[in-house]
Amino acid sequence: SKGNHRHFMLKEIYEQPIVVAQTLRSYVRRLDGELAMPAEDFDLSAVKRVTIVACGTSFYAGMVAKYWFEQFARVPVDIDVASEFRYREPVMEEGGLALFISQSGETADTLAALRHARAAGQKIAVVVNVPTSTMAREADLLLPTHAGPEIGVASTKAFSCQLAVLAAFAANLARAKGRLSREAERELVRHLAEAPAALNGALAYDEAIEAVAHIIAKARDVLYLGRGPDYPLALEGALKLKEISYIHAEGYAAGEMKHGPIALIDEHVPVIVLAPSGPLFEKTVSNMQEVQARGGQVVLISDYDGVQQAGEGCIATITMPKVHPLIAPLVYAIPVQLLAYHVAVAKGTDVDQPRNLAKSVTVE
Ligand code: M6R
Repeated sequence: SKGNHRHFMLKEIYEQPIVVAQTLRSYVRRLDGELAMPAEDFDLSAVKRVTIVACGTSFYAGMVAKYWFEQFARVPVDIDVASEFRYREPVMEEGGLALFISQSGETADTLAALRHARAAGQKIAVVVNVPTSTMAREADLLLPTHAGPEIGVASTKAFSCQLAVLAAFAANLARAKGRLSREAERELVRHLAEAPAALNGALAYDEAIEAVAHIIAKARDVLYLGRGPDYPLALEGALKLKEISYIHAEGYAAGEMKHGPIALIDEHVPVIVLAPSGPLFEKTVSNMQEVQARGGQVVLISDYDGVQQAGEGCIATITMPKVHPLIAPLVYAIPVQLLAYHVAVAKGTDVDQPRNLAKSVTVE
């Protein structure tokens, strides 16, 4: 049931602190700050390369994970949407690890890609939310998310749980490859363990986000910008908005704006900038200023320090808790989800059952 919430989507957004904590319990031993894996016997030390395949929101979780696998484990990552992967004759070395991400575990494109990778001699890892699904059954390494049933067509809590699992898995891979000192491991686990509280902190800004939604609801086109692991969040924000409010939206890597899309900027196109404090902040802000210099109407989503530093000249700002860059993609999922949700409610669209969409896409 929806409980006190008006829609399943809102209920599921609000469940995130709890389900992420629940999911993390299978991947970290909280007491001693040590990583754990559901399948301890699966040997990760031999993995030389990871191929990530998924669709939609699950694909964006995979895009974030690519940064983590490369940064922590120094393992090269190839990533593609499932509908393209199979047909481009991808090169897969014998013994590589292919990683599939899916809420339902039934998405036809992803499942076909999984079988294709297996036939090419890959070990199959699956991050999946439905434990009884086809993909769960076909995995060599099953990495469950514990988000519970997701009813809203727009994926929310499954996404943050996928990110939690993928962060822990990247750290596990780094450890297996001898690239993570005991101290660094404890440090990563500590940041991961902070995620549920940070998600609660982000949810506390719901009203401020709703106020911004009333501005966005009037737009015909919206752009989302982010850098590094927050670039996929820009794509996710745009997908959420399109899906449930039917407003045209695009996500871009902030630095790509000047290579074309900046031509779209005028006072009618709101630009939502995701810029948590951290190593990429300054660069993202300078891209944001390029937009503002051309009359662009910017909504800045950052933490207190970021908003203090760069909020001037924005039409609105949304303040998030200040978090370690590792968990920023989880935390920044909340404002993009809530923004899409409130815009859709303001527009009166069917939030849980958007037109033309099904919860699980079982045709290729
Ligand atoms: O069940 P899956 O995670 O495999 O589904 C993949 C996509 O169909 C799904 O994420 C879709 O993009 C959502 N409606 C996004 O909100």
